[in-house]
Amino acid sequence: MPTSAARRTLHAPELPPSPFPYHPGSLLSINDLSLDALNHVLRRATELTNEDPLARARILPKRRVALLFYESSTRTRTSFELAAKALGCDTTLVSNLSSSIEKGESLKDTGLTIRALGAEAIILRHNASGAPWWLEACTHLPVLNAGDGMHEHPTQGLLDLRTILAHLRPGIAEVGPDTLAGVTVSITGDILHSRVARSNMLLLPRLGARVLLCGPKELLPDLAANVVPGVAIERNFESALKQSQVVMMLRIQAERLAGLQLDLEQYKAAYQLTGDRLRTLAPQAIVMHPGPIIRGLELTAGVADGPQSKILEQVANGVAIRMAVVERALTTSRTGDRA
Ligand code: CP
Repeated sequence: MPTSAARRTLHAPELPPSPFPYHPGSLLSINDLSLDALNHVLRRATELTNEDPLARARILPKRRVALLFYESSTRTRTSFELAAKALGCDTTLVSNLSSSIEKGESLKDTGLTIRALGAEAIILRHNASGAPWWLEACTHLPVLNAGDGMHEHPTQGLLDLRTILAHLRPGIAEVGPDTLAGVTVSITGDILHSRVARSNMLLLPRLGARVLLCGPKELLPDLAANVVPGVAIERNFESALKQSQVVMMLRIQAERLAGLQLDLEQYKAAYQLTGDRLRTLAPQAIVMHPGPIIRGLELTAGVADGPQSKILEQVANGVAIRMAVVERALTTSRTGDRA
């Protein structure tokens, strides 16, 4: 365990609230959540999961939630939809592939149209970093960021935290600045293009965790380590594994490489999570991945299906967390009061 002085240097300070007058039910960045708000979301995720399904469906009856997706998604889209429906909401999906977005309609006009149709909250996935802020500013509705470009994926950070707590801090009542003291989480792969890495880098050090970023320079520039206290670069995968209680692997995002050529055989030799590496270097660690996984590239099929893998638990935790953030979006007034 680090000394208390050393631990203090790992903690990112509590961030001040956003100076912009966004809807307090929105979740645009993981930094929007104070420690109190974070604990509220984690607590409600558990309470709503344990609630009787019929009672749960009466929490937000017939409230209207729109899912606006400009990028493909399996986990996030499905779990947001199931979460909203579990609370009794009506949901509608607007996808860039089957809507007037294909005809050139802007994000602003699409958002205003969805609002005019009665939507009370919008869940947005967009390929442009910052798009949720623009949608919020245009519609004044609560907006939940379901992944914006290479920027953030706050609900993924929350479901990852719920998964980590379940294994490393089971039964904990609430989180605080020391909850994950002594825990090292390595994140390996395409850090540069990863909104998941960014949300986790912003969240986990606030709870005392040390985050090690691992990958080649093309996917992890040196600059990345200086952004947040408690985050460091470890280029050697074996060394990162030896230090980790949580091993988080990332996909190489081919859709964002923009001409960058990677030698995949070299990449696998240096960074693939194999059964041998896991058994030898991190036999007690949990293995996580936000998905979609590419078997045989960033990890082997044996690791993905093995006993240390918590990948499908992460998926299930997505529904719990998204019920809590949808409820928060629809029950928080503009003044910040909760109904
Ligand atoms: N983790 C994640 O965002 O997965 P999807 O792209 O399938 O939603």
